Amino acid sequence: MYKIAVVGGDGTGPEVIAEGLKVLKAAGRLHKFAYTTESFDFGGDRYLKTGQILSDEEVDTLRTFDAIYLGAIGHPDVKPGILEKGILLKMRFDLDQYINLRPVKLYPGVWTPLKDKGPDDIDFVVVRENTEDLYAGVGGFLKKGTPDEVAIQTSVNTRKGVERCIRYAFEYTQRRNKKKRLTLCAKTNVLTYAHDLWQRTFEEVAREYPGVTTDYAHVDATTMWMVKNPEWFDVIVTTNMFGDIITDLGAMIQGGMGIAAGGNINPEGVSMFEPIGGSAPKYTGKGVINPLAAICAGAMMLETLGEGKAAKAIENAVIKVTAERLKSLSAGKMGFSTSEVGDLVVEYLGG
Ligand code: IPM
Ligand code: MN
Repeated sequence: MYKIAVVGGDGTGPEVIAEGLKVLKAAGRLHKFAYTTESFDFGGDRYLKTGQILSDEEVDTLRTFDAIYLGAIGHPDVKPGILEKGILLKMRFDLDQYINLRPVKLYPGVWTPLKDKGPDDIDFVVVRENTEDLYAGVGGFLKKGTPDEVAIQTSVNTRKGVERCIRYAFEYTQRRNKKKRLTLCAKTNVLTYAHDLWQRTFEEVAREYPGVTTDYAHVDATTMWMVKNPEWFDVIVTTNMFGDIITDLGAMIQGGMGIAAGGNINPEGVSMFEPIGGSAPKYTGKGVINPLAAICAGAMMLETLGEGKAAKAIENAVIKVTAERLKSLSAGKMGFSTSEVGDLVVEYLGG
């Protein structure tokens, strides 16, 4: 019996998570796994009403779950940074979810802006470090608001943090069992301290994985190859900031935010799964947002919980829906409402 914490969050988050839960329910029935859910109202609306963001006690409550299923965090009436840092990043950091796993996979029938590229060419996974780098929150102001103002924000890279991420990436590449090629994406020609640590650690850990071919690309070149030759990639391992940037590019080449899912993973603890598209305030409450990214995040959650068969079945159902039914993956252009898309996935799942 799995215990799942559900955080619908802001904007379209609750709408897409509702469809994800619909699919999860059908998958549980068909593939014979049982779970309970408990909902939490963390997000912008609660913050505006009560001033609460996310307390240490609430994080401790989350620790008692097997997984967290998250919609979106970010509210147009709240100053940028408060909810992102106070809720999303706090969960990632306090629960030590040190891997951000983001598959970039073009499903059949999905439009990609890359000319002459198809599902065989766009199928790789980004392993993004998720607890350090510029996201660590180390820095400050000096003489703020004066002409002499100084602002410093430091990239933190620890041997332990870098090594556990790289090690996870090697293990993952081996387990994925495709091209067995792991590319380190960094900027060793400029970040000669931080990324020297990354490169040395990468080379050291690589010796333990003779079956995995290693490769290196600077981050700027990585964006180039992702557009020109995405078929070169199998697994990419990278820093938190670079991973944030290249996975938005990844989402676009796999068909957009309507389909892109991610997992914030603590292999020894509680992991959190989310569509990566954000709260999309302008579509909130209209029933037009695409729930497939949230549904795919639910499949990633099942995979991590050990329900690989159910996860695969959901992915196959999503592929049927994208290949045979949806006109587009964009909000408002699918040819179906948010909840109809959830129903279609359940139908193809056999539910
Ligand atoms: C993401 C998002 C977050 C990030 C924001 C909302 C803090 O862009 O999950 O990629 O930068 O990690
Ligand atoms: Mn991002």
